[in-house]
Amino acid sequence: MKTAARTIDYGSRGTVTVVPDAELLAVHAAHLVVSAVDRAAAADRRAVIALSGGSTPKQMGKLFAAEPMRSRMAWNSIEVFWGDERWVPLDDPESNAGEAMRGFLDRVPVAKERLHPFATGGIDPEQSARDLEQEIRRLTPGTAIPQFDLILLGMGDDGHTASLFPGTAAIHETERLVVGHRVDKLDATRLTFTPPLINAARKVAFLVGGASKAEMLAAVLDGPVDFDMYPSQVVRPRSGDLTWIVDEAAASRLERNVDRG
Ligand code: 6PG
Repeated sequence: MKTAARTIDYGSRGTVTVVPDAELLAVHAAHLVVSAVDRAAAADRRAVIALSGGSTPKQMGKLFAAEPMRSRMAWNSIEVFWGDERWVPLDDPESNAGEAMRGFLDRVPVAKERLHPFATGGIDPEQSARDLEQEIRRLTPGTAIPQFDLILLGMGDDGHTASLFPGTAAIHETERLVVGHRVDKLDATRLTFTPPLINAARKVAFLVGGASKAEMLAAVLDGPVDFDMYPSQVVRPRSGDLTWIVDEAAASRLERNVDRG
């Protein structure tokens, strides 16, 4: 059984860290958050972080809700956003923010003012996106495009990331930092960070697990560049760092993975 993580250099497409399984994927994700928070706390500021929806953050949340992580984390030094959201109330099982709150944020000593979910009621999606953009700017003064300390992303089997789905105009957004849009193939409304905001981050980390992701991961990392087909490829931080944390199953088709599990 493999236990150690190994790293593969994917040049301008990032660094790929392969871990044995989903459990270790969540451990690595939790450490990324802790390091970002520690770095910010050392500079006497709060780390501005975006969580994603999906399965890995769910498992990561379990780690944060339990010891030793619960006490280890500097909960007063974090501002939490979500990189995308479904147009449902916070208490809906489909809500990314709701899931994280029920999963761990309600059970750790983080102040409510540190949590910045999208508003998904009482206003229209467009306004919700604009309001969140303002909130992000308020907490990251001094830069034209706010710099998140860490943005965690998932990748769907269809290559989407955040709520940037294949063929949607949001993939090509250049001005707005956050948009609310209709995703026809889901017949649903989604709110999402846009490429300019994601690519301004100090660090972006994809968390990708499971055999169902193997083919798409290989297409995104080894295949030709086609943002409309593979929206995850649009993630290319301008000066920040791009890491893919993937498990053996997801890494099994990568060309550069010479040590396939
Ligand atoms: C969402 C997510 C989405 C997710 C991927 C991967 O709200 O739909 O933010 O982008 O991260 O679909 O999810 P899994 O890791 O569960 O496959």
